[in-house]
Amino acid sequence: KDRGELRVHENLDELSTDLVDYVAELSEVSVKERGIFAIALSGGSLISLMRKLCEAPYNKTVDWAKWYIFWADERVVAKSHADSNYKLAKDNILLKVPIVPSHVHSINDSLSAEEAADEYEFVIRQLVRTRVVSVSEISDCPKFDLILLGMGPDGHVASLFPNHPVLDEKDEWVTFITDSPKPPPERITFTLPVINSASNVIVVATGSSKAEAVHLAVDDVGPDSPLLPARMVHPAKGKLVWFFDKLAASKLEGS
Ligand code: 6PG
Repeated sequence: KDRGELRVHENLDELSTDLVDYVAELSEVSVKERGIFAIALSGGSLISLMRKLCEAPYNKTVDWAKWYIFWADERVVAKSHADSNYKLAKDNILLKVPIVPSHVHSINDSLSAEEAADEYEFVIRQLVRTRVVSVSEISDCPKFDLILLGMGPDGHVASLFPNHPVLDEKDEWVTFITDSPKPPPERITFTLPVINSASNVIVVATGSSKAEAVHLAVDDVGPDSPLLPARMVHPAKGKLVWFFDKLAASKLEGS
């Protein structure tokens, strides 16, 4: 089974350069095709790997006015809280490039997890109607131009954790959990149907703590191995690219 394209880098600096170059290329293609780049971010260490986007040449060459920003997952905390994925992206990237403020679709932090998930799905529905976000031909789901994911040592992506019932969600686009094993416990997350409807998905994993999960997510491991959320990422029509440093890739077959 095709597990997508693997890009293994010597170190974080090279990974970061290739990652931002690829994101800039996807932005260019999407803006050329439909005048918009709808990108969903996650939290975690990948955001600092995106910081080069704020530097030359990308600060000048990327068409920032055409970017619409979303979150594939968010922690249910105030937007000013150190745990907020919105704050992480804002401080590291969004404040440093000319994004249009009204194009930044962060999650409402004054609601409960359940309400915030419902409202976020509603917001995305409106933007699908106006074609800011495309619609998938095969699933009726939103088709984001890019969904950017990190991966935890347990193989979670977004806030989809191993063995959690939300992995089976078929109807909702955005759902919530209150029992995240990685703190904080309350989170909102895109569901697998949305992730797998995207035009492009990137998964970034670095460091030796991710090596076993990378192996289980990517290699042909057989039916008795645990089914990691990261292994359930396979965009039906889209392109999947994995970015690893050599530590995260150290348990890949053939490495
Ligand atoms: C979150 C994330 C989560 C993250 C991974 C990897 O809000 O916690 O969106 O899915 O991307 O846990 O995080 P690290 O790269 O920091 O390990």
